[in-house]
Amino acid sequence: MLSPPSPGSPGPPRRVFIESFGCQMNDYDVARMREVLRRSGYEDTQEPEEADLIIINTCSIREKAEHKAISAAGRFKALKERRPELLLAVGGCVAQQEGEALLRRIPFVDLVFGPDQIARLPQHVGLLSGQRQVPARLRLRVARTEVIDVEDYEFLDADPRPGDVRVTALVTIQKGCDNECAYCIVPTTRGREVSRPPEQVLAEVERFVAAGAREVTLIGQNVNAYHGIGTPDGDDFAELLRRVDAVPGLLRLRFTTSHPQFFTRKVAAAFAELPRLCPWLHLPVQSGSSRVLQRMRRNYTREQYLEQIAWVRQACPDISLSTDIIVGYPGETERDFQDTLSLLSEIRYDFIYSFAYSPRPGTPAQHLPDDVPPAEKSRRLQAVQALQKEITSERLGRMVGRTEPVLIEGMARMGNGQLCGRTGGNHMVNIDPAGHTDPRALIGQLVPVTITAARTHTLAGTLS
Ligand code: SAH
Ligand code: SF4
Ligand code: F3S
Repeated sequence: MLSPPSPGSPGPPRRVFIESFGCQMNDYDVARMREVLRRSGYEDTQEPEEADLIIINTCSIREKAEHKAISAAGRFKALKERRPELLLAVGGCVAQQEGEALLRRIPFVDLVFGPDQIARLPQHVGLLSGQRQVPARLRLRVARTEVIDVEDYEFLDADPRPGDVRVTALVTIQKGCDNECAYCIVPTTRGREVSRPPEQVLAEVERFVAAGAREVTLIGQNVNAYHGIGTPDGDDFAELLRRVDAVPGLLRLRFTTSHPQFFTRKVAAAFAELPRLCPWLHLPVQSGSSRVLQRMRRNYTREQYLEQIAWVRQACPDISLSTDIIVGYPGETERDFQDTLSLLSEIRYDFIYSFAYSPRPGTPAQHLPDDVPPAEKSRRLQAVQALQKEITSERLGRMVGRTEPVLIEGMARMGNGQLCGRTGGNHMVNIDPAGHTDPRALIGQLVPVTITAARTHTLAGTLS
């Protein structure tokens, strides 16, 4: 065993480059990594060539996501060969799932760490960076994937700083997931569900607002199962929304991801009652066939889901809806698949995320005979996407000619002086500043924008 760096040894690496895949939990985690590393003397860099530490934060939700993350590590191999003192770390869900095995699979990786190890990242890195003088083949390589017990779990508070903060912020309200959707790896990689205490959530929202954020998205894998308060009617998530909505200075509130099994009437009613809650709901349905939903262990039927959508539309008739769809689940027949298409036609989501099922290690569905051949999965995926393209075009089309409040997030990526922001319904808008002398001054403001055109996934507009 090598000992930690002695006081006389060269200082720790100074610059960190982070590449991340996956969901908003991973985005949130990356922000926390940057903060813990910053407190121990690291600066961010956008250039892997000048980094002393490279972190790849991985996702294992589907086979493809996992491959993408692993091949990202391969891109840094040459750099690592050129500069053996460079530390290469892999975090996130693949790291948690594979642990030590990942050190064997990627022999040039120094550190593998799971999501519960972020608070201790500086210690792990400190231990490894003390080995610069040690010949490469003798260096210590470490996998840390201990999961913190539910009772002992402490959420790592965000430390937003003015100048560093974007207009929109993510605030985590829970970690892990206690559901057992038969196809899903998340309960394995993120562990049991823990609800973050409401006072921590509120304090974090206040810190973000004080640092310049104007919109907050509360995140968790199943936010409707939030149980951090103990309200008499048991609907802690509805209560949390009410409290966050009242934070002074906050302009907009969103949340994701909801699970239909836990989605209540009271949360649906919040869309009518809470002034800052945006008219957008992401409610993953996965399939339009009750038979498939049962095999997925989703614990709701097509009819129950449709009823929830009716509650939401009653509270907020023009709400934007989005969902996740899995096609080609084991046992999905052509008829089941047609049920998914008919559900899309009936509900008319503004946008969807659709995936071909892929088996994940250790999940119950892994052992179901996968009787939908890959070519058929692709055909179904394409059919879903083609249908949704028409629906999205119609849904975006309804916005043209309207004047909508848009929160300006920044300058558009595609340049020519345009601004970008989102409608309450979560549609991205590229905005012509219409002769405004200092468009940048509008960043962070909620301004009226007249929608002039609908593109494939976004809107175009002009300042009114
Ligand atoms: N907690 C959220 C979703 C998390 S994962 C929820 O319950 O809805 C995001 C999406 O990935 C899921 O909604 C599902 O559509 C998709 N997904 C998860 N596991 C998958 C698998 N094994 N194959 C294909 N898609 C999957
Ligand atoms: Fe996965 Fe289901 Fe939990 Fe979502 S609710 S993270 S799909 S197990
Ligand atoms: Fe991926 Fe893990 Fe999120 S598997 S979707 S990064 S919780």
